[in-house]
Amino acid sequence: MNFQYTPGATPLDPDEAAGLIPTHIATQSELNVWEEANILKGARWAIRHKKRNLLEEAYVRDLHRQMFDETWKWAGTFRSSNKNIGVDWSQIAVRLRNLLDNIKYQIENQTFEIDELAVRLHHQLVWLHPFPNGNGRHARLMADLLAIRLGGSRFTWGGNSLVAVSDLRTSYLDSLRAADNGKFEMLLQFARN
Ligand SMILES: Nc1ncnc2c1ncn2[C@@H]1O[C@H](COP(=O)(O)OP(=O)(O)O)[C@@H](O)[C@H]1O
Ligand SMILES: [Mg+2]
Repeated sequence: MNFQYTPGATPLDPDEAAGLIPTHIATQSELNVWEEANILKGARWAIRHKKRNLLEEAYVRDLHRQMFDETWKWAGTFRSSNKNIGVDWSQIAVRLRNLLDNIKYQIENQTFEIDELAVRLHHQLVWLHPFPNGNGRHARLMADLLAIRLGGSRFTWGGNSLVAVSDLRTSYLDSLRAADNGKFEMLLQFARN
């Protein structure tokens, strides 16, 4: 398998790459298609499990597992090495707990509108980067699910796939970088376009 990483993606370590389950996949585009089917299954799982609390570690990991369990042996498992993005791997569990507690607090205190709350969760989750791969797609679905739970609706995230190199992906990454600097307007707009 020859992995091709788009800008803003996190390359896999050799041992993570060895966790690829389907043996017939040879190209990145075949992998993207395979992952897409797995992710749809994960989204259906989420719809069936409406009663579970989203804002706990077990759910965050289970959702990732359901989205990637037919693709990666390490689906649902936090990374155990550092990437070009994300917190030190040893800090993931603590930082995630902190993030989820903050979001709960913000919901209770109605600190932000639904969209802003969900988009902030998205940004902070990809910034933590809990998993070896799939963080962008997982954190977008998490934001969608949170928005729905709070009475809002799914985001469009630009209206097309963000997986391959495209102008759309570039503007998504630009809005994330603006959010890195505390400016969420671009990301909010992007998510509803
Ligand atoms: N500067 C940045 N700030 C915050 N998030 C970023 C930044 N650059 C990339 N990301 C996030 O990391 C994701 C890539 O991580 P990756 O684990 O490969 O996810 P996926 O495989 O779903 O694309 C991007 O889709 C984006 O969500
Ligand atoms: Mg990736």
